Amino acid sequence: MERTFLMVKPDGVARGLLGEVLRRVEGKGLKITAMKMLRVDEPLGKRHYEEHREKPFFPGLISFITSGPSVAMVVEGRDAIKVMRAMIGKTDPKEASPGTIRGDFGLDVGKNIVHASDSKSSAEREMALYFAPEELLTYSRADEPWVYEE
Ligand code: RTP
Ligand code: MG
Repeated sequence: MERTFLMVKPDGVARGLLGEVLRRVEGKGLKITAMKMLRVDEPLGKRHYEEHREKPFFPGLISFITSGPSVAMVVEGRDAIKVMRAMIGKTDPKEASPGTIRGDFGLDVGKNIVHASDSKSSAEREMALYFAPEELLTYSRADEPWVYEE
């Protein structure tokens, strides 16, 4: 099983899309093993998006991500990183396919509702940024035998 980091950004929380995102994650068969609501502060936002520090959109990205509460999660399942990236869709919601979270609910690249880790190394880094190891819980979902063949 693989773990990834997923966040509903301030626009997603403000628009009441938290339940919609959770419904999709749960419905897919993925397991939420950690979750918290927090307001990302400037130092945390800058660390989260440090790969974009030199980009022209960086200041706007930091002011957006710190503008209100977000919900941070760890999501676990087979190929969770790739699966979750497919479920959120392309970065620009105008180009994201219908059926994806961004494709169904967004119109602007700066307001794209969700974040999901794009690789194993970013998943590890981002999970550690938002959660202490003991905050990641272990449990079984009752439908696991019906989600996985083996
Ligand atoms: P995220 O990290 O939030 O999951 O998004 P992503 O991987 O799909 O896209 P990434 O390239 O990592 O960009 C991070 C966030 O920066 C904003 N952005 N704005 N104005 C622009 O051209 C532009 N490009 C990226 C987006 O909000 C994106 O989610
Ligand atoms: Mg990214």
